[in-house]
Amino acid sequence: MLKVGIIGWRGMVGSVLIQRMHEENDFESIDAHFFSTSQSGGKVRILKSQESTLLDAFDADELIKMDILLSCQGGDYTKKMLHPLREKNWSGHWVDAASTLRMNSDAMIVLDPINKEAIDKAIEKGNKNWVGGNCTVSLMLLAIHGLIKKDLVEWVSSMTYQAASGAGAQNMKELLIQMGELSGSLDNIKPDSSILDLDKDVQLMMNSERFTKKLFNAPLAGSLIPWIDEELENGQSREEWKGGVETNKILKSNGHKAFNVDGLCVRIGAMRSHSQALTIKLNKDYPIKEIELLIASANPWVNFVPNNKEKSIKNLSPAAVSGKLSISVGRVRKLNVGENLLSVFTVGDQLLWGAAEPVRRMLNILTNIKL
Ligand code: HSE
Repeated sequence: MLKVGIIGWRGMVGSVLIQRMHEENDFESIDAHFFSTSQSGGKVRILKSQESTLLDAFDADELIKMDILLSCQGGDYTKKMLHPLREKNWSGHWVDAASTLRMNSDAMIVLDPINKEAIDKAIEKGNKNWVGGNCTVSLMLLAIHGLIKKDLVEWVSSMTYQAASGAGAQNMKELLIQMGELSGSLDNIKPDSSILDLDKDVQLMMNSERFTKKLFNAPLAGSLIPWIDEELENGQSREEWKGGVETNKILKSNGHKAFNVDGLCVRIGAMRSHSQALTIKLNKDYPIKEIELLIASANPWVNFVPNNKEKSIKNLSPAAVSGKLSISVGRVRKLNVGENLLSVFTVGDQLLWGAAEPVRRMLNILTNIKL
């Protein structure tokens, strides 16, 4: 069995990954070893059959004993450790959830329902670095997979509604604290309370010095934040830039027609599911019923939601989707503002298909071919 070293298994993405690996019995076909940046030597029970002794995640000599290293430890760890391992002539496979390597020419962004052929070819050619894509990119590509297969897309404008989980576990907690602080400021809520007075209390609380906003630097509960990640010189946020470049890299890798993607990325007070309102310019007129069919049947994960009020409210929201592998896709209709413009609203779990699932599946691809 291949030796697989897992780093960052305790974090949020790592925990979801381990959960999924148990669900799919992945541990039965690998010899798994767990590394820690802070508690090497300690014992953990992650595998059902035995306790594991944690290995030192900064010990290159231990790491190079692995055939595959899978890191959910974050970009700083990748920057620190991968190069020294390659310097030691380690020729194993590095599978990573962080963004650090994504745009490197020797790394492939993996989203196997879209680019499995390219992954197979890259394995044959000796590629060793595999990286999961940005969450909004992976979720969007799976949502509109049917249009991609038919090469129907000229461009996409994606307006995102991104959950707190994308910023990290501590940010999710900060969102909950903010929610608590806002509702705590409403102790005197009564059926006959004046809504304007209640609203004033909320407004005062979210803008007061004592409101908790150490991580987000702004109120998210009861509000939103229209910027995610760093500022780039062209006015885009880094998150918006990733949407375009990563989509193109994934599509081109597999010989699909690439298209431009741009739009505004916005953080909202959802917990772990990202939503996106897509405006899609089609390159030809196509009947709406056929578009619906293409989207609905593209892959096993699309949960197509007919464009009506009841089904949209019930099935097309973070509340309905979180914790599920399915990606809800709905509000599909032709827009009235121009020719061949389609609207799509899609919601997917940021920690599953948005982060852990593509790297879990890549690990399986590598272990199935036995290297
Ligand atoms: N960058 C994403 C976000 C998460 O901030 O929501 C990871 O892809």
